[in-house]
Amino acid sequence: MEKKIKIAIYPGSFDPITNGHVDIINRASNLFDKLIITVASNNTKKALLSIDRRVDILNKTFSNKANIEIDYFNGLLVDYAIRKNVFTIVRGLRTLSDFEYEFRMAIINRNLDKRIETIFLMTDEKYSHISSSSIKEIYNLNGDINQFVPKTVSKTLCNLKNEKNNK
Ligand code: PNS
Repeated sequence: MEKKIKIAIYPGSFDPITNGHVDIINRASNLFDKLIITVASNNTKKALLSIDRRVDILNKTFSNKANIEIDYFNGLLVDYAIRKNVFTIVRGLRTLSDFEYEFRMAIINRNLDKRIETIFLMTDEKYSHISSSSIKEIYNLNGDINQFVPKTVSKTLCNLKNEKNNK
């Protein structure tokens, strides 16, 4: 009998990706044959990085992982899942306060398409305090973000600051 390949989608804003996201990605890529990390490009949150930059960071950060694909999407996540024919969604949980939002999103997605299953992975507790919004705030206030994000993010944000200062 032919073995079915297990594929999952890990969607997010990733603006920017943090060490907490990296931890979830490493866990998920060990559990699934293939993991598609996809950047939501129509998010209402005020963005720091363009979609191209976020995709570029993800590509560079995971270039050594053969079972990871990087992508982006517009519109509803369920429509993206249908286009990809992948119905397992991975989301990370840091604290109890994440749960309510994630629970609602998982139910809505399942209501929109009953084939969708959302799987939650708990982040290592050493990353439970890190969020993209706090990284943005520290960066905007000229703080040091290095301990919270992969090197590719630090480099990109440093370049971004230089670009802005040279204008
Ligand atoms: O990293 P985030 O911001 O927590 O990711 C949230 C994301 C992008 C996964 C979610 O907002 C999403 O799926 N957006 C696409 C639009 C959609 O499908 N909305 C319906 C689900 S409530």
